[in-house]
Amino acid sequence: MSRPILVAVAWPYANGPLHLGHVAGCYLPADEFARYHRMKGDRVLMVSGTDQHGTPITVRAQAEGITPVEVAERYHRLIVDSFDRLGIRWELFTSTHTENHRQVVQDLFLDLYRKGFIVTQTQEQLYCPQEERFLPDRYVEGRCPHCGHEKARGDQCEACGRTLDPEDLGEPRCKTCGTSPVPRQTEHFFFRWSAFNDRLVEWLADKPHWRSNVVNFSRRYLQEGLRDSAISRDIDWGIPVPVEGYEGKRIYVWWEAVIGYLSASIEWASLQGRPEAWKDWWEDPEARTFYFIGKDNIPFHSIRWPAVLMGRGGLNLPFDVPANEFLNLEGRKFSTSENWAVWTNDFLDRYDPDPLRYILTAAAPEGSDTDFSWSEFHRRNNDELVGWWGNLVHRSMTFTARHFEGRIPVAHQAPEDQAILDQARQAFEKIGGLLEACQFKSALAEAMELAREGNRYFDNQAPWKLVKTDKDRAGTVMATMVRLIAALRVLLTPFLPNSSRVLHSVLGLSGDPEAGPWAMPELPEGHVLGEPRPLFKKLDESLVEEERARLG
Ligand code: MF3
Ligand code: ZN
Repeated sequence: MSRPILVAVAWPYANGPLHLGHVAGCYLPADEFARYHRMKGDRVLMVSGTDQHGTPITVRAQAEGITPVEVAERYHRLIVDSFDRLGIRWELFTSTHTENHRQVVQDLFLDLYRKGFIVTQTQEQLYCPQEERFLPDRYVEGRCPHCGHEKARGDQCEACGRTLDPEDLGEPRCKTCGTSPVPRQTEHFFFRWSAFNDRLVEWLADKPHWRSNVVNFSRRYLQEGLRDSAISRDIDWGIPVPVEGYEGKRIYVWWEAVIGYLSASIEWASLQGRPEAWKDWWEDPEARTFYFIGKDNIPFHSIRWPAVLMGRGGLNLPFDVPANEFLNLEGRKFSTSENWAVWTNDFLDRYDPDPLRYILTAAAPEGSDTDFSWSEFHRRNNDELVGWWGNLVHRSMTFTARHFEGRIPVAHQAPEDQAILDQARQAFEKIGGLLEACQFKSALAEAMELAREGNRYFDNQAPWKLVKTDKDRAGTVMATMVRLIAALRVLLTPFLPNSSRVLHSVLGLSGDPEAGPWAMPELPEGHVLGEPRPLFKKLDESLVEEERARLG
């Protein structure tokens, strides 16, 4: 059955380039998931865009002395470039600064305002007497009421991940000038989160397929009870509140950014010339929507966005929110300010994309935080990617070229040949099942295990000896090897699409290597193979020291 699958991926702030933590956190797993489903024949809509509003952008603009638009456009281009080079493929990657997004957000705001889920309320808000302005959440710092972290921001505590309001902070300070802000009255639009508490509890009670860290975090979060909170701000960068007399206020960036999943789907549909097509993913109850995010984004996707969707009615709620934990770098948290980061574009200036995709999947932070280290990158590239997979391909293809004129030889299969091909055939269901369950690390490990099995088979059969004594038997072995490699080529495509494309032509195949089907390819005897060429490079150990020296 072909099912509509929405792959909704966290919108990166357009205030900096992507580092490997972002890639491992959500973009890579989302891409693997989408690629698999496309090959399987499902109707995939994978969307995201840059998150261009709110204070993350204005803080950066202020620091660089340029306009928010300039900041957003610069980083948007860099981010898109990283995706292209990595092979992250979107149906649409847009931004929150489009006319379409503004329209969708304002329509939804008005719908919920008319239904009474958004109400105006006078509120005390922190005002900086020094700068004579109301302070946006991110411009206030102070002590987290939950965990005591001293540098919690007004919107969220990075130490414990809880979302905050600036008034919650102990000993608040203005981030720009250090002054203690004072509370002042201002009128704002409040979203009535509390109206959805019970429905959310009920909805989250039945999520057996969710990752336990995500569902447990979300349930705990609701136990404290949702408080209504302001979703408008006194700033001038962002989407205007669409209510007469309040046009000077802007909609809170988190409230509007999550609507991007819907607005991007609508934008995609109109770009297709089928303006109603987005409904297949949002209104059809058979459709499934998956939100790929990092763990700091969990409450916005498992609670707040579902509450907005419940208020709107008639649109699909998230089917799953397979949030990842964090990737660390050489044992420490990524930190942009301390230059403790590996930037994706820098990495790709020096190395190929598939080794990066490989290690970030093999060490994916799926159930707990994991670490990226240069020595592990070096080891996994040489021992696993080159050693298990690259060599298997290269020695088989060169051997077949040399001794069998680059054609699939005639095979008289013995049970041991049949056995490994059966294993390959069964791998499609097994690895497909793991990918559908968002278990990327295990799915990749299964495929690599099959490659190792192939190496053992090759070594046991020793075709380089057979070719001198029993060329027929050597031919059977090589036919088996090539068919196994063709199967692994398909199985590894979601993870390693760039090298899989090369291998597709090395195998002498034409057509789109990503078109699927997700099934064992049946290559006939006599099939003419392409020119062998190595898929991966062995890397010198000196890279470990060189790369470590660049950090910090
Ligand atoms: N820009 C946010 C971040 O990087 C993520 C926003 S996801 C969205 O943490 F759905 F709200 F857009
Ligand atoms: Zn905290």
